[in-house]
Amino acid sequence: MLIRSKPNWVLPESAATDETYFLNRRELCKSIAAGSILAAVTPIVGASPAFAAKSDDPSAGLYPANRNDAYTLDRDITPEKITTTYNNFYEFGSHKNIWRAAQKLNTRPWEVTIDGMVEKEQKVDIDTLLKAMPLEERLYRHRCVEAWAIAVPWTGFPMKALIDFAKPSGGAKYVVMETFHDKKTAPGQRQFWYPWPYLEAITIEEAANELSMIGTGAYGKPMPKQNGAPLRLVVPWKYGFKQIKSVVRFHFTANRPKSFWEQIQPREYGFWANVNPEVDHPRWSQATERLLGTGKRVPTLLYNGYAEQVAGLYANMKGQRIFY
Ligand code: MTE
Repeated sequence: MLIRSKPNWVLPESAATDETYFLNRRELCKSIAAGSILAAVTPIVGASPAFAAKSDDPSAGLYPANRNDAYTLDRDITPEKITTTYNNFYEFGSHKNIWRAAQKLNTRPWEVTIDGMVEKEQKVDIDTLLKAMPLEERLYRHRCVEAWAIAVPWTGFPMKALIDFAKPSGGAKYVVMETFHDKKTAPGQRQFWYPWPYLEAITIEEAANELSMIGTGAYGKPMPKQNGAPLRLVVPWKYGFKQIKSVVRFHFTANRPKSFWEQIQPREYGFWANVNPEVDHPRWSQATERLLGTGKRVPTLLYNGYAEQVAGLYANMKGQRIFY
């Protein structure tokens, strides 16, 4: 993510190191640090890679969940190592290499607040919520507004199940989501020029769409911290910045809020943020995307390839800016 009003030391995405080199360089540093000969003889059977969620996660027994075969990919699944080491999570730094810093995030206890226009405002413990929700795995494409893309086996539950759990009143039109706010854990939140906490919202109709998921895991395991543990939004037809991580609050309201990036740069990051290859970002083309881990650039698809499921949501919004 880039902002025009950014401090002048923030690198443009185009100047950032390609993730292949980035990973190779890290591999190299790691083997120098560990001693490559030692690494070659040390058995690693049963060890969880450092970038994966720890197996002591209390929800580990819920994974892997059954895959829902209704959602198929037109591309290979991105290697787990890339998805979990090339991230956007500004709370831990304004660059892609935040996965180590994110390990500081403490995801237990984790209380989720459900409030606003609901039958009963409540706070729910994450493990109680996880046990009450129907977990399943789905293969989804993910398209960042910065024109890189991945394909991920997410685990989670349909957001419709959360709406049924929250029971919003008829007047509620939006679900507003907030990330944790804790400067001690997340050094990025000391950057006062960002409007913390990270905040996003979608309409109730969008939330009830079959594609909308609350992601709680990836690659058959609990969600890694760097990908937004213990729960994040997954709405694959929208640019990645809508897919808020590490959510602590779901607020149901009649009023549309200004989301995190919309507050910073409304001309570049709007509320709807639906993927469209024909509507360029003011500073770069959205026609194609870099498929991480493949060295390939491929055409971007309208609604990221999910038009069949979601185009109807916007049928009566002709003339509105729904694609940025
Ligand atoms: N959520 C929070 N709280 N903070 C962030 O910086 N970045 C967003 C989104 N959710 C972000 C966030 C952006 S720009 C993208 S592309 C995706 O997370 C990246 O998700 P990933 O790192 O799991 O690929």
